[in-house]
Amino acid sequence: MTAAPARSLALPSAFLAAALSFPAAAQVGQKLATDRPNVTILATGGTIAGAQPKPGEVGYKAGSFSVESLIRAVPGMEKIAAVTGEQIANIGSQDMNDAVWLKLARRANELQKDPNVNGIVVTHGTDTMEETAYFLDLVVKGDKPVVLVGSMRPATAISADGPMNLYNATSVAASLAAWGRGVLVVMNDDIHYAREVTKSNTTSLQTFVSPDRGRAGAVLFGKPTFYAKPIERHTSGSTFAVPLPDKLPAVLVVYSHANAGRELVDAAVAAGAQGIVLAGVGDGNATAAIIDGLAAAARKGVVVVRSSRVGSGTVARNVELDDDKLGFVAGRDLEPGKARVLLQQALTKTRDVVQIQKYFDEY
Ligand code: DGL
Repeated sequence: MTAAPARSLALPSAFLAAALSFPAAAQVGQKLATDRPNVTILATGGTIAGAQPKPGEVGYKAGSFSVESLIRAVPGMEKIAAVTGEQIANIGSQDMNDAVWLKLARRANELQKDPNVNGIVVTHGTDTMEETAYFLDLVVKGDKPVVLVGSMRPATAISADGPMNLYNATSVAASLAAWGRGVLVVMNDDIHYAREVTKSNTTSLQTFVSPDRGRAGAVLFGKPTFYAKPIERHTSGSTFAVPLPDKLPAVLVVYSHANAGRELVDAAVAAGAQGIVLAGVGDGNATAAIIDGLAAAARKGVVVVRSSRVGSGTVARNVELDDDKLGFVAGRDLEPGKARVLLQQALTKTRDVVQIQKYFDEY
């Protein structure tokens, strides 16, 4: 995957003046004397690096600016960390893919082992940020902070939210209190755990929420405060992906609704899916036609996980459906996109549904 050519950030003059007034030591890409934490920013694109054709106009292209431009656009960053940037990709996150995930995970694991690096920030689009965050939560081996950050407004917008989000994310990545908490997401002054966070609104600055267990903390003008630690296994405590595979198993999501037939289930099986996640109605339910299709898939060895489109709450085993008889896995409180991420990792280890249910009970 080669990053799209990025152009330098044509920021509003006030921002540009601030960015250019940085002391020389804050030049991006140089390792600074470590009188403060060293933070590496891995950039993948998204709106945080997005540009409108003309400031103030609707519409923009995600992934238009380089990581260097993003860093230069955040006045005062040098006070909280010595920052270096690397461009992993430069895409809208609706196009996020396994190749970028594996490249990102490999680089994050190298940085976990680098004694000169204290924390990692990943700039990313918000559309699939929660999925990438959870994937990294399962496969990054180390306790150093890994913090994903994006923005809901492009870098050229009036009151762009990216610079403050990036400043706050860098302060969290530089914080000793963030160590050992797993992968985090920082957006709009909130800190979220990768497993819990989800995008809840198509346009709001306050779109990221953690509906079942609440936020991991808050960060105000670069000062993080943390709440309760996560319960489930993650990062150093994860059994997955050492070493990382070259290819991730094919797992597809099937969405249920009134009057839904089994055709998409049958199509997923025909396409070679090793796993299928049901984005079910209510408590992970679906029409009889879909359940029949999923049961047939399970009999062919496809691993089926029941999740829910509802957005919060848990899908438990054997409530309205007999998972024991059908051979299904209950996805608990993982939303469908994250259930897919965990099922992918589980399938790198086994196809045994009893063991996979244990993974869903632990991660
Ligand atoms: N293209 C979408 C993405 O990269 C925009 C959303 C955003 O980054 O805020 O996820």
